[in-house]
Amino acid sequence: MTRITRREFSALAAAELLARPAFAQTNEAPPITRAIPNTGERVPVVGLGTATVFDSDDEQTRRAAAQVVQTLVDAGGRLVDTASSYGDAESVLGNVVAAAGLRDKVFVATKLEAPDAAELKRSLARLRTAKVDLLQLHNVRDPRQSLAQFRAWKAQGLCRYIGITSTSHRDFAAIEAVLEHEKPDFVQIDYSLDDRAAQERILPLAAEVKTGVLTALPFGRGRLFRTVRGKEIPDWAKGFAGSWAQFFLKYLLADERVTTVIPGTSNPAHMADNLGAMRGRLPDPDQRKRMAAFIDAL
Ligand SMILES: NC(=O)c1ccc[n+]([C@@H]2O[C@H](COP(=O)([O-])OP(=O)(O)OC[C@H]3O[C@@H](n4cnc5c(N)ncnc54)[C@H](OP(=O)(O)O)[C@@H]3O)[C@@H](O)[C@H]2O)c1
Repeated sequence: MTRITRREFSALAAAELLARPAFAQTNEAPPITRAIPNTGERVPVVGLGTATVFDSDDEQTRRAAAQVVQTLVDAGGRLVDTASSYGDAESVLGNVVAAAGLRDKVFVATKLEAPDAAELKRSLARLRTAKVDLLQLHNVRDPRQSLAQFRAWKAQGLCRYIGITSTSHRDFAAIEAVLEHEKPDFVQIDYSLDDRAAQERILPLAAEVKTGVLTALPFGRGRLFRTVRGKEIPDWAKGFAGSWAQFFLKYLLADERVTTVIPGTSNPAHMADNLGAMRGRLPDPDQRKRMAAFIDAL
């Protein structure tokens, strides 16, 4: 008897999921894309986050990462978000992308802890690329933070876009200040169905200054799945969400100010499930209100 590992089982499950008639049918429709405000370049609305899931460069992680990234690309996805501080994630991603010859199919977003040339050099080497698509300053806390060095690197062709990130509500004022005076191409912020603070504070300003939005922690680090454990998707949501993951992601994507959601996973079947959120109908404003009320009541 041939034994298969849990990861291999997940890869088979992902392939099976994508081949199902319902999935294949919706897969025929092009994925939903959004324009990056500064350039009009369109990106698919579901991407992948690599915090914690790719952080150790071992055989099992490399195999899972290869399957997850391939699943993303095969389904028409593109954006992968990593950081210099996510353990070995940049190396794991760089090696997977290079080995599969996928560099021109993946929009690589990474983050630096500071505008430091040595740190950028290390990230580019680990990612095995001469230029990243998006270079973000991680966890901005200073309202006077300058992005001059990031702009200089962009002008030198070391990145195509620049951005800032935060998942700390304490630092929202700093993020707002930097959005106003630096007008970066992207802001990455925590935004999920049960953590909606960003829609009142960051998203309106991002739209005003024409900054694209990546939503970190779209499942609240998995918290949303625990909230609905044992519960069925309500009937009124079944027309647009085939799973809880799609319910949570489509809530965010129905907000047109969101460019791409970046759920983290090392499981190819979960990746395939998440990618289902970039196809089919999105909830309308009344349904969005109902979704928020539903989660708030749990
Ligand atoms: N300050 C910052 O800039 C900052 C901070 C935090 C995060 N981020 C970014 O945001 C990304 C996402 O954050 P995150 O990964 O921590 O949290 P998340 O995306 O909110 O949740 C990830 C969790 O959801 C589970 N999951 C994913 N898809 C699923 C599915 N279809 N069904 C059931 N469970 C599913 C994952 O488990 P499995 O692995 O088992 O699928 C994992 O436990 C990060 O990877 C990073 O790129 C940025």
